[in-house]
Amino acid sequence: MGDRYAELVNSPVGSFIAPKVGLPQPVKLERYKPGQSVVAGKVLTGGAPGGRLGDAITRALASFNAETVGVDAGSEPSPNGDGRYKALVFDATGITDSTQLIELWRFFHPTIRRVAKSGRVVVLGTPPELTGSAREATAQRALEGFVRAVGKEVRKGAAAQTVYVAPGGEDQIESTLRFLLSPKSAYVSGQIVRIGAGVAEAGTIDWGMPLAGKVALVTGASRGIGAAIAKVLARDGAHVVGLDVPPLAEDLEKLMSKLGGSSIVGDITAADAPKSIADKLEAAHGGVDVVVHNAGVTKDKTLGRMDEDKWSVLMNINLSSEERINDELLARKLIRENGRIVCVSSISGVAGNAGQTNYSTSKAGIIGMVQSTAPELAEHKVTINAVAPGFIETQMTAAMPIGTREAGRRMNSMLQGGLPVDVAETIAWFAGPGSTGVTGNVVRVCGQSLLGA
Ligand SMILES: NC(=O)c1ccc[n+]([C@@H]2O[C@H](COP(=O)([O-])OP(=O)(O)OC[C@H]3O[C@@H](n4cnc5c(N)ncnc54)[C@H](O)[C@@H]3O)[C@@H](O)[C@H]2O)c1
Repeated sequence: MGDRYAELVNSPVGSFIAPKVGLPQPVKLERYKPGQSVVAGKVLTGGAPGGRLGDAITRALASFNAETVGVDAGSEPSPNGDGRYKALVFDATGITDSTQLIELWRFFHPTIRRVAKSGRVVVLGTPPELTGSAREATAQRALEGFVRAVGKEVRKGAAAQTVYVAPGGEDQIESTLRFLLSPKSAYVSGQIVRIGAGVAEAGTIDWGMPLAGKVALVTGASRGIGAAIAKVLARDGAHVVGLDVPPLAEDLEKLMSKLGGSSIVGDITAADAPKSIADKLEAAHGGVDVVVHNAGVTKDKTLGRMDEDKWSVLMNINLSSEERINDELLARKLIRENGRIVCVSSISGVAGNAGQTNYSTSKAGIIGMVQSTAPELAEHKVTINAVAPGFIETQMTAAMPIGTREAGRRMNSMLQGGLPVDVAETIAWFAGPGSTGVTGNVVRVCGQSLLGA
């Protein structure tokens, strides 16, 4: 089901009336089309004095030919001119004391109103826990609040993110800047991304086909978000091995043959599933590069009315089977060097949701799995991250009662629901070989939803 409200307020008559009566007006978000440049417009860069990321930012922007305008560290950009910036990028790593947070104001005050439609704001800092003093940690932690507030102010489909770069991770920022500055991150806003030194050598990257030669397993790939993930990973060059349950075998095989991929038909909760999936990946491909745990279900009931089956079946699909599959693939060393595990959590796992104690538990468990296994996986030269989708326009959300559906769509900075492709693009960023420094992250694809923020 489409977003009729958005169509109405953006029609010629609707767009005239809506601002006069104070109705929210969601803009049509720009989304990536193959072949287009990373940033379609000027990027203004600046930073606080003493920052350590200026060169790395310049190199990354040059590598994708961004039209960059620089402001010297600590200087105030000119408020003159009515030109728009497609992105504002600020290196805040030089801020070591709260009194220096004024540098944010100095750079953004004259420029924030010049952010273009579907523009981007990215503030880079140092992870507070890796700073040299409590004063510096305090100031760096403050960046999150600044960026989240900016995300709520910019509107018009623009998004704002905080990127914490660990000392030693300076050379790992390109894949993340490419994602966050491009229309691929259309429905990602108010997020915090952490980048480290990298679990493996990325090698030479073909940014047009970053997953060429890679094998990607996607569970629950026959429809919805899983089908979008399969399409985007195939677009990026991966051979996709889609997995789904026997009743959906026909849909799965149709999609996989269209994408030049292959299929595994089975239930991930079956006792022999981990072994059988590992056997198939080993026999056909000698291993796997990217594992996307997308399969998931909801079985809603308030806790007092929830029978044991609704709890156990869901927990097995959404959480325990993923742990078992990971264990099997790792024990047999089938995830190749610079490999990826990407999980699908949910905003319900962040904020909790009435009627979803089972689902929220499982999706919070996914976050726990990402955070607790990232260090161990790094030793295997594998990253693990999760997306946490908010309101995504799928059959599941179309079936919601109208009140809940409309609230879900509007209670975020984008004033609309996201699309399955928005989740898929975020997963493709995690999956890319250049994202070797991105691990242990949970990134919400929720348009900066008010829930759990
Ligand atoms: N739609 C949303 O708004 C939303 C929001 C947050 C999180 N998510 C998560 O995104 C993921 C995909 O959701 P969707 O909306 O596309 O749902 P969907 O029901 O359309 O797709 C889920 C897929 O998983 C498969 N699956 C279920 N149980 C399985 C099993 N035991 N073995 C193998 N495959 C199995 C299904 O057959 C289906 O193809 C899920 O993990 C869901 O929890 C969705």
